[in-house]
Amino acid sequence: MTEKIEKLMSEVATLAAKSADEAEALRIKYLGRKGVLTVLMNDFRNVPAEQKREIGQKLNILKTAIQDKINELKEAAEVQQNAGSSIDLTRTPYPISLGTRHPLTIVKNEIVDIFSRLGFTLAEGPEVEDDWHVYSSLNFADDHPARDMQDTFFVESHPDIILRSHTSNVQSRVMEKTQLPIRILCPGRVYRNEAVSARAHCFFHQIEGLYIDKNVSFTDLKQVLLLFAQELFGPDTKIRLRPSYFPFTEPSAEMDVSCTICGGKGCSMCKGSGWLEILGCGMVDPAVLEANGIDSSVYTGYAFGMGIERIANLKYQVKDLRMFSENDIRFLDEFTSAN
Ligand code: PHE
Repeated sequence: MTEKIEKLMSEVATLAAKSADEAEALRIKYLGRKGVLTVLMNDFRNVPAEQKREIGQKLNILKTAIQDKINELKEAAEVQQNAGSSIDLTRTPYPISLGTRHPLTIVKNEIVDIFSRLGFTLAEGPEVEDDWHVYSSLNFADDHPARDMQDTFFVESHPDIILRSHTSNVQSRVMEKTQLPIRILCPGRVYRNEAVSARAHCFFHQIEGLYIDKNVSFTDLKQVLLLFAQELFGPDTKIRLRPSYFPFTEPSAEMDVSCTICGGKGCSMCKGSGWLEILGCGMVDPAVLEANGIDSSVYTGYAFGMGIERIANLKYQVKDLRMFSENDIRFLDEFTSAN
C-alpha cells in the first residue's frame, strides 16, 4: 500500500494537460467515483489496524496533492485558452458613465434656487386642465385669440378640457384655495398647437411667479426681477421693461436683459440691439383677483412668467429647440451641474 501511494505521488507530479478538457479527464481518472484514489480508499479498509494511522496520513497527503495538481492544470489551461481568444482579461474596464441632469432641469433648478432665497415656494398643477383655470379665471375674454384652435390643444369630445398653454393655471388654482399672502413659483410643461421646427415646439416649459399681499407694488416686481437677472446672468446684467399686454396683468411689461454675449454693444445674438427678451410680467389685474375670491381693494400682486427653453438657449446657445426633447446622449453629455 505504501509503495502504491509513493508511486502515485511521483506520478501526480508529472501530470500534464493541454486543455481544460484534458484536465477534467485527469480529475475523473484520479478523483472520480471509480477513480484511482477511490479504489485506494476502499483498499484502506483492509490495512491492519496498527498501520492505519501512518497510511491514513499518507493517503490524505496524496489526496491533497492530486487535488492541487488538477486545479493548477485547469487554471493554466483556462489562461492559455483565453490568451488564444479575443477576450483580454487584463484590460482595464470601460468607465461606467453616469447620467447627467437634463439642461432644462439644470436651468429650472437654478431659477427655483434664486427665487426660493427670496421666499418663493414651489406650486404645481395639472397639465390637462379645464378652460376656467387656463383662461376664464385669468380674464381671457371668450373670443380671445389664445383659445383659438391654432394655439390650444382641445380634448376631442370635451371642449372644456384642454392641454394648458401656460402655467398660469397654477396661479388660479393656488389663489382659489390658499390663504394670503401668496408667494409661489410654478414650473411645468405647457402645450401649444405649433408646427415643430428649430424655433417652435408643440410643448415647452415655463416657470411662473406670483406674489399677492397688501401693498405689493410695481417697484417690488422690478427690484425682484433685477436681482433675478443679475443672479442668473451675472452682476453686470441690466434690465429694461417695455409696456406690453397680457389679459391677466395690468399694467403689463416685457423684460429684456442686456445681451449675455456682447454685454449690450450689439451682436448677432441680440440682432444688434444689445437686449434680449426673457420674460413677461405685470401687476395682477384686479378682475383676476376678484374672479379668484380675493378682495382687490385690500390686496395687490405681481406675476411674471418665462420660457425655460428660452433661458437655456441664452445660457448655452442651443440653436435648435428640438435638441431639448430628442434625448441624444451626445447632446445631454455636454451639460454638467453641481446639484
Ligand atoms: N402666461 C404668460 C405667457 O404664457 C406669461 C406671463 C406670466 C406674463 C405672468 C405675465 C405674467 O406668455
